[in-house]
Amino acid sequence: MSELPVALVTGAATGIGAACARQLAAEGFRVAVHFRSSAEKAKRLVAELPEAFGVQADLTVAEEVDALVKGLKDEAGGVDVLVNNAGYNVNAPMLAMNLEQYDSVAVMARSTWYLSKCVLRRFMLRKNSGRIINISSVVGHTGNPGQIPYTMVKAGLDAFTKSLAQELAGRDILVNAVAPGFIDTEMTGELPQDVKDTILARIPQGRMGRPEEVADAVAFLATRGHYVNGSVLHVNGGMYGG
Ligand SMILES: NC(=O)c1ccc[n+]([C@@H]2O[C@H](COP(=O)([O-])OP(=O)(O)OC[C@H]3O[C@@H](n4cnc5c(N)ncnc54)[C@H](OP(=O)(O)O)[C@@H]3O)[C@@H](O)[C@H]2O)c1
Repeated sequence: MSELPVALVTGAATGIGAACARQLAAEGFRVAVHFRSSAEKAKRLVAELPEAFGVQADLTVAEEVDALVKGLKDEAGGVDVLVNNAGYNVNAPMLAMNLEQYDSVAVMARSTWYLSKCVLRRFMLRKNSGRIINISSVVGHTGNPGQIPYTMVKAGLDAFTKSLAQELAGRDILVNAVAPGFIDTEMTGELPQDVKDTILARIPQGRMGRPEEVADAVAFLATRGHYVNGSVLHVNGGMYGG
């Protein structure tokens, strides 16, 4: 088994997750490239990164998370850094959204909580060390019309970050969040042009961010940032300073 520290990045086949996987590999991690449906993209990324390997799971299904964690034990022996990057959104104003759509977004909070619990119990608490980095969002702080459940999940993720950091007090396990602003990925690519223009007008730096710029902040928290804990690091071109 490899001697390299192991980083599990969820939703790593696409967008911000793929940038995090590349950056963490460059920092010397053996990356577990998690994916749900983007198998081909995951395969290509694994081939690109030294010692990386792919792991598949729908994180909304507890049994698949259990199998994922068991697979990580067998393949890599443990997880040193967990990047909770996977996310899901349905764009619709509240009155046009039904309960099924609400649940399909809201379940991601539960998924992140459960995966973190499993990784902590199985790996990090045993070693008394680790880093958990949650990818939240600027909209959890500012709100965003048409994205109410998503903004609730992302605000909740920042609260989860602060609560878990306090629960783990006294251990060398640090929990932080990175809250991206509007980043140029497939997720934002789906937005209509007029919505994009309105967003751009609200960004002091006048442009969308790049996935690599979010990954930089993740790499900092994964490898340095030894006295940063329970924090939310904003990466948003000045859109929100909270
Ligand atoms: N782009 C932005 O402007 C922006 C801004 C703030 C925050 N964020 C957050 O950044 C993270 C990455 O977003 P992105 O922009 O890179 O979008 P993306 O390319 O759509 O990535 C979302 C990822 O989540 C995974 N995923 C979704 N549902 C899943 C499930 N049930 N189980 C397992 N994996 C699941 C997808 O995996 P598969 O493709 O394999 O299904 C995909 O790789 C998300 O948490 C998002 O909310 C993005």
